[in-house]
Amino acid sequence: MTQRNYRQAFGLKILNSNHAKVRQLKKEGYVAEIHGNKFWNSSFLIMSYLKKQRIPKKYKVLEIGCGWGLLGLFCAREFGNKAHGIDADKNVLPYLQLHAEVNGQKMFAERKNFNQLTVEYLSQFDIILGADICFWDEMAEQLLRLIGRAKRAGVRHVLIADPCRPPFTDLSMNCEQKFENVELVTKFLRRPVRASGEILIVS
Ligand SMILES: C[S@@+](CC[C@H](N)C(=O)[O-])C[C@H]1O[C@@H](n2cnc3c(N)ncnc32)[C@H](O)[C@@H]1O
Repeated sequence: MTQRNYRQAFGLKILNSNHAKVRQLKKEGYVAEIHGNKFWNSSFLIMSYLKKQRIPKKYKVLEIGCGWGLLGLFCAREFGNKAHGIDADKNVLPYLQLHAEVNGQKMFAERKNFNQLTVEYLSQFDIILGADICFWDEMAEQLLRLIGRAKRAGVRHVLIADPCRPPFTDLSMNCEQKFENVELVTKFLRRPVRASGEILIVS
């Protein structure tokens, strides 16, 4: 594997779209349908936050709208968490498994959308993470209801990061009105990439 085809950040290998194994999956017909065609930068905001705050090994992690699953894999590698991913697009899941493999980690993932995550399902998890998953108005509505179910399920923390697209700002405002223990953390990163945005944390 040559340096040009992947980058290394937060202890993870993240393959570029020109990497032979990524191109092979595309050739096999795994073409992402809802923007899950690459790794998105807001995950770095949560990685940077969690690196400082730390989470216990016993926490079960659910990454929603997981795409290539790097946030879940980060928790598995950094803290030893069991990580699980869900995404509405089944075509992203082979890319997640490829990243699990190249990073020597395990992460189970399945095709599910936000609306399908019931209170019973969510009760298996301690923390829910999601990055760049709130870019349409309907997503803000679905995520607000999902956070309500997560609270009823006893999930301890929900963290959603975004570069502050309008639906995300609506979601944050609605969470502040509806729930207690809501925090908005502003993050600016210079490395591994220039990235900025907010992390919505509902505890
Ligand atoms: C912009 S990508 C971000 C992917 C990943 N979180 C990252 O940071 O690299 C948005 C992801 O959300 C997924 N998605 C979109 N709508 C969804 C829904 N209603 N339920 C679950 N996943 C959804 C897409 O398939 C896609 O993988």
